Amino acid sequence: MNADVRETLFRQAKEWVLEAGSTIRTKINDPLTIDTKSNPNDLVTTMDKDTEVFFAGKIRETYPEHFILSEEGFGDELSTMEGTIWIIDPIDGTMNFVHQKRNFAISIGIYHDGIGEIGLIYDVMGDVLYSAQRTKGAYKNGQEIPPLKTDIPLKEAILSLNHFWLCENRLVNEKEMQRLVKTVRGTRTYGSAALEFAYTAEGIVDGYLTMSLAPWDIAAGMVILEEVGGVTTTADGKPVNMLSKNSVFTSNPCVQKEILNDFLIKGKK
Ligand code: IPD
Ligand code: CA
Ligand code: CA
Repeated sequence: MNADVRETLFRQAKEWVLEAGSTIRTKINDPLTIDTKSNPNDLVTTMDKDTEVFFAGKIRETYPEHFILSEEGFGDELSTMEGTIWIIDPIDGTMNFVHQKRNFAISIGIYHDGIGEIGLIYDVMGDVLYSAQRTKGAYKNGQEIPPLKTDIPLKEAILSLNHFWLCENRLVNEKEMQRLVKTVRGTRTYGSAALEFAYTAEGIVDGYLTMSLAPWDIAAGMVILEEVGGVTTTADGKPVNMLSKNSVFTSNPCVQKEILNDFLIKGKK
């Protein structure tokens, strides 16, 4: 994508993200209609849907030639990454949104012919915007985020992960996962994949490991992470597929190989 086209698109997307976030903040105490999707803990609210409709409407009106890949059903059915695709999670961390009214984000990645060009992750209640354009660095509220540190030993790393890894699971022997948790300095679970990517980019956690994520959970985060030197693969070290669900391991490269080889691949089922 041409740099001028990308810059214009970035400014526009950022404006819409901030506008959508402001609307959510204004309505944060309004009564919510909460439904469930694939299981009783997979929540969706009218706010998720309304926010996605807001973006889809703006994009279709302004960029009718672009495509939309999004969570709540107002996007397109896509079978290829060709063209310009807005990959949208209107609220990432819906359980946090419903139960905590904080710790959720709007996540938008814009990809062109399969390449991540723009990433925006907006912590709505914290009013913190993580953003990146490919090759232009990553930013937190307009301040450039420095490249990831290169000297963190695994025993001093903080890892973000979901506790399901420590229960019997279909991917990795839980004993290896328990050994990993005891090896690192600490673990965290934030409940928003997008924010966990942003925190990895910021270097306040050193990696994020999760069993099954959709493209809209990771599209923006991957662009932002890439700009600070982070690496994202599946939990068995393969490239992630932006048109399907994946297990995901995103990390600072200085601990990535060790976690991947000594724990995830070693314990792989
Ligand atoms: C979820 C969150 C959560 C992750 C789930 C995602 P949603 O997204 O990112 O942290 O563990 O796998 O589905 O449903 O709140 O947009
Ligand atoms: Ca999500
Ligand atoms: Ca969502």
